Formats: sequence, structure tokens, C-alpha cells
Amino acid sequence: MDQFEIVGGNRLRGAVQISGAKNAALPIMAAAILTEGETVLHNVPDLADVSHMQKLLPRLGVKVSREESGDLRLRVEDESNCHAEYELVNKMRASVCVMGPLLARRRKAQVAMPGGCAIGDRPINLHIAALQALGADFDLINGDVCLRAKRLTGKELFLGGPFGSSVTATANVLMAATLAEGQTVIESAACEPEVVDLAEFLSACGAQIRGHGTPRIVVDGVEELHGAEHTVIPDRIEAGTFMIAAAITNGDLNLNGARVDDMLAVVDRLRLIGVNVERTETGVNVTSTRRLEPVEITTQPYPGFPTDLQAQIMALLCIADGNSTITEKVFPDRFLHVGELGRMGAHLRKEGPTVTIQGVKRLVGAPVMASDLRASAALILAGLVAKGMTRIDRIYHIDRGYERIEEKLAGVGAEIRRVSG
Ligand code: UD1
Repeated sequence: MDQFEIVGGNRLRGAVQISGAKNAALPIMAAAILTEGETVLHNVPDLADVSHMQKLLPRLGVKVSREESGDLRLRVEDESNCHAEYELVNKMRASVCVMGPLLARRRKAQVAMPGGCAIGDRPINLHIAALQALGADFDLINGDVCLRAKRLTGKELFLGGPFGSSVTATANVLMAATLAEGQTVIESAACEPEVVDLAEFLSACGAQIRGHGTPRIVVDGVEELHGAEHTVIPDRIEAGTFMIAAAITNGDLNLNGARVDDMLAVVDRLRLIGVNVERTETGVNVTSTRRLEPVEITTQPYPGFPTDLQAQIMALLCIADGNSTITEKVFPDRFLHVGELGRMGAHLRKEGPTVTIQGVKRLVGAPVMASDLRASAALILAGLVAKGMTRIDRIYHIDRGYERIEEKLAGVGAEIRRVSG
């Protein structure tokens, strides 16, 4: 298994190109199931989760090819198989995004129920209940969610759950509603930019959608959708991770392509911490003198502070001048990185969904273990500032969601290398 070796202490300086958003690209790729004709997607990041979707879709009759230019071409060739099997779904939870499109277009979806994962229980009850409300019959057979409907019918739906809106449930219901008969109103819809991007793609395919980006999305069903050309939005989580990399290393980074408007909660917290964040013509510039103030952070659905940057900002707060708190309101068990950061000298105390971070003067390098995608990013950030060498094991987690992260970091001055094990 590959590892990263990082020697901390270098200031990062220079420019980084932000890649396309993984969490936008995956549902948009799944949405191709709904369409007739060819779809061309620009700015799809080249990372493990996308390769995984590139393996799953052909099993469902969708031809997918990556051009030399980096574009993805997708076209449905065979609509007979509606079964996303466990071996494929358990490798990537976003596989569940094929459920809405299969049901709407092929009248049947059989998708293995994804299990829990390192960040906690991840039920899909909201997806299923909403698709049932649109008229699907549901059964659980051999661990597979089986949904059938002659034709879905539009409905008014309330999609909120115990932790607020759900991103992939909104994506699934939105996709299903595009081909339903009549009007669907999704109340308590997720407002994440990735949902907006999906709605923009579906609209380019001929769907009738309004209200995306607000908690109330209205979809008027159409008879069919055609393929379309679309450019995936930049990845706000990758951009946020590099903003924190600039902050933690006392650096100066220009993040080209980053969309500040998608990250205002992150910019707000970084400025309170004492980091300089300025819009530029091409994205954002982040500099820091590393006199870091402690803050309170609560993760929330968009436009709140994203749970997908909780671990990374914790790494930064480990070296702030005072006590900070982070409360996780989206995935209350998402704290596996706490123990690993502790191995690097961080002073952290977890009580329920809240972690108190007592800032220390410095972190020290150590062998640590990546537990999930964003926790791995936090360990890299900690490694960039720690004294000595940090060796991070199980980095396949990071390859799931960051495109060439070690090349991008090394390009702006980090001492990081991949060691094949
Ligand atoms: C998506 C993102 C993930 C991000 C998360 C929250 C993708 C591919 N993944 O995951 O990176 O961390 O949003 O921003 O876009 N819930 C239920 N029942 C459901 C569905 C969700 O109770 O049926 C709960 C979850 O357990 C969680 C909360 O709702 O507590 C939000 O989860 P959700 O937005 O669904 O996360 P994902 O869409 O899986």
C-alpha cells in the first residue's frame, strides 16, 4: 500500500490549479443514464472515485470514454441491466446516485444498500422514502434496494432529515423527478453548489427545473432528456484544503479557478483566524503570517461551514494561539482524525460531537494512519507544518478525492513524496 512521506517546515508559495469538483462530477455522470444521445463533460477530475464511476456505468449499459483532452464522453447503449451490485457500491457510496436515474428512465433500480463507513452511519432512508412518494414500490432483497414504478408521478416532498438536508438524496430525487409525470416540489432540498451544478446539467439536457440553490426546488417532468455538453464546477473542498495549506505553512498561494462565492463560510472563519484571503481575477490568494487566533466552528449543510473541511481546519487550529471548538452537526461521529492528530502532538478533547482544540506551539512528525478521505487531507496538512517526518499510511483514501495532491503540493514547495509499498 502506498504511503506519503512529508518533511514539514516549508512555506508554500506559488500557484495551484483547482480541479473539477468530485461531488458534482459523480452525480452528473450518473445522470447520463437519463439521457438519449451523447454527453460531453469538461473539467472532470481524474481521481479514484471518478474511475470507479467509470467502471460502474458501463455495467449499466453506459459507454464512458476519457478523451486525450481530459473530457469525458458518455452515451447509453444498452438499458437492460438495472443492477448496481454490492462489490461496486461498497467501494464508493456515491454509486447510490444511479438509483434515481435508473428508476426514472428504466422503471426499475436494484442498488446494493451501502453500509456505514469511517465517518459514521450513512442511511439512505430519505432517498428511498422520497422515491416511494413519487410512486415507486420498494423492497429490500439480499441487501439490495429494489425499486419499481410504471411511471413516477410528481409530488410535494419534504426531504429534510435529522441532520438537515441530504446532498445525494436531493440529487437522486431531482434526477428522478425530471422524467416523472407532472410537477415535483422538493422542500428542504440541499443547496450545495454541486446540486446546483447537477441541475444546470439536467436543464441543458432539457429538464425543467427552477429553485435550485434554494431549499425549494420545483421540477416539471418532461418525456425525455437528451445528452448535453457541460463544464463541472471547481472543487470547493480541494480549494479549501489548499487555502488551509497556505495558512498552516505561513505561505502565499494563488488558487486558480477557486470560486470564493461557493466558500464564504470558510473564508469567514479563515479571516477570523487571522488568514488573509483576497479574491483575484483568476480565483483567490491566501497568505498568512501564522499568528493564528482560535475560533468556534460548527459544521452545517451549505451555506454553513462544510463537514468536508472539518478535519482540515482542525489541523490548522491545532497550532492556533488559544482554545478553539469544532462542533460537527452533519456527521457527529466524523472524528477519527482526532487520535491521529494527537500522535503528532495536538491537544484535543472530544466530548460528543464537539472537539476542543488547545493550540500548541508546534506539531511533530509521526507515522499516522489515514482513516477516510478528508481525515487524510488533515494529516497531510499537519505533516506540512510538523517538525520532522510524517509518514501517512493508507493513502488510497486521499486518492479517492484529490487529483495529484502530492504533485500540486510539491509544485509550490512542499517536501512530500509517494512511497510505493
Ligand atoms: C455528500 C457528499 C459528502 C459530504 C456530505 C455532507 C457526495 C458524493 N458526498 O454525502 O462528501 O460529506 O454530502 O455535505 O456528494 N442522512 C440521513 N438519511 C439519508 C441521507 C442522509 O439521515 O437518507 C443524514 C446523514 O447520515 C448525514 C446527513 O443526513 O448525517 C447529511 O448527509 P448527506 O448530505 O446525505 O451526505 P451524502 O449525500 O452521503
